[in-house]
Amino acid sequence: MTKENLEMPDKNGYFGEYGGQIIPPPLIDIMNDINDAYDNVVQTESFQNELQSLYADYVGRPSPIYFAKRLSDKMGGARIFLKREDLNHTGAHKINHCLGEALLAKHMGKTRVLAETGAGQHGVALATACALVGLDCEIHMGEIDIEKEHPNVTKMKILGCKLVPVSRGTRTLKDAVDSAFEEYLKDPVNSFGSSEKSVG
Ligand SMILES: Cc1ncc(COP(=O)(O)O)c(C=O)c1O
Repeated sequence: MTKENLEMPDKNGYFGEYGGQIIPPPLIDIMNDINDAYDNVVQTESFQNELQSLYADYVGRPSPIYFAKRLSDKMGGARIFLKREDLNHTGAHKINHCLGEALLAKHMGKTRVLAETGAGQHGVALATACALVGLDCEIHMGEIDIEKEHPNVTKMKILGCKLVPVSRGTRTLKDAVDSAFEEYLKDPVNSFGSSEKSVG
């Protein structure tokens, strides 16, 4: 395997012999459109300027790197550094790709961004990005996770997103993924499915 094919996947989502993608057949063309739109817009100065300035002024990047001395001492040997992505706006790395997705969705004329969430970090980041750029946001979340992650549920609601409780199966992230995909399939043209793997 060469270094190149470890950095970017081929058109079928493979990094050399690893990777791949599993997509419901009716979404294949829609996903290809999103891919093409991303490949085009990512090269434009206006998209890059907007994204980079949001990263700097809205997210607070680059986040610092912190030497964890006591943890390093305890682990005996390695010097451990922590990249403080938790200091980003919304408290995780997820805002990075959610902002890129929201800008891309807006650029494509989509009106709604959909996702599932488990702990709620993904949902909060996406609801934040959609509120910022003015897109509808719909988050699917298992009933068990809704109970466990009440503060994030409150944040998503304050941010104006539609929260869809998922009562089937495990009532956690696994079934929330299926529920979000089912919703996506109802109106794939106007919707954009958020995934950590798409932008960012
Ligand atoms: C698309 C997507 N949904 C959900 C999750 C789960 O994160 P969270 O528990 O914050 O929702 C991830 C995490 O990697 C993700 O990429």
